[in-house]
Amino acid sequence: MMTIPVLTIDGPSGAGKGTVSRAVAKQLGWHYLDSGSIYRSLAIAVLQQQTELSDVAAVVKVAEAMQLEFECGDELIVKLNGTDITAQLGTETTGNTASIIAAYPDVRQVLLQKQKDFKKLPGLVADGRDMGTVVFPDAASKVFLTASADERAKRRYKQLIEKGISANLDRITQEIEARDKRDQERKAAPLVAAKDALTIDSSNLNINQVIEAVLSLVR
Ligand code: DC
Repeated sequence: MMTIPVLTIDGPSGAGKGTVSRAVAKQLGWHYLDSGSIYRSLAIAVLQQQTELSDVAAVVKVAEAMQLEFECGDELIVKLNGTDITAQLGTETTGNTASIIAAYPDVRQVLLQKQKDFKKLPGLVADGRDMGTVVFPDAASKVFLTASADERAKRRYKQLIEKGISANLDRITQEIEARDKRDQERKAAPLVAAKDALTIDSSNLNINQVIEAVLSLVR
C-alpha cells in the first residue's frame, strides 16, 4: 500500500500556521486541512442553535449532526448544513467559542474521523493544535510554529483591520493569552509540540523564510 505523506503544522493561534500551510500545500500540490475551521464550524453551529456551552452532551450532539463541506480554492469556503458560513469563521467570538468546546474530550473524539478523512494522495498539510500529537502521530514531517503573544496579537489586529473589522489591540492580546492558556492547559490533546517536531519561532522571520524552512524539512 502506498503511504500518503503528511506534514503537520501545529502551534498557537496567530503564529502564521494558516498562511504557511496554504502556501506549502500549494507548492507541494498537496491537500490542506485547516482543523481549526472544523472546531470553528462547530462553534458556529452551537451558537446558532443556542446550545448551552457548558452542556457537553448537547455540544456532542450538535457535533455528531453537523454536515460540513469544504471547498478549497484560493479561499477556503465552508458550508455548515448547506449554508455558507465562511464570513463568520474568522470572528473572535467564533474562535473563543471554538477554544472552549475544543476542551471537551468527547467533542474531540467526534471530530477526529472528520479530520483523518482529509488524508489523501498525493499528500496532506494539516494545520492545528494536535495534528502531530494526536490526529496524525505517524506524520513524516512535523512543525511546531510559534511566535511571541505580542507579535501574534499585532498580526491578528492587522488582519482584522484589513478586513474592515474593528479591533482593539489590548483586548486581542488578552484574548490570545487566555486562548493559549486554555489550549495548553486542557487535559484532552493540549497544545504542545510533538517530540519529533521542528520548532520554528516566527517572531523575527518573514513569511517566506518560514515557508522555505518548512519546505526544506519536507524535502
Ligand atoms: O486555529 P484556530 O484559531 O482556527 O482554532 C480555533 C480553536 O479551535 C483553538 O483555539 C482551539 C481549537 N482547535 C483545537 O483544539 N485543535 C485543533 N487541531 C485546531 C483548533
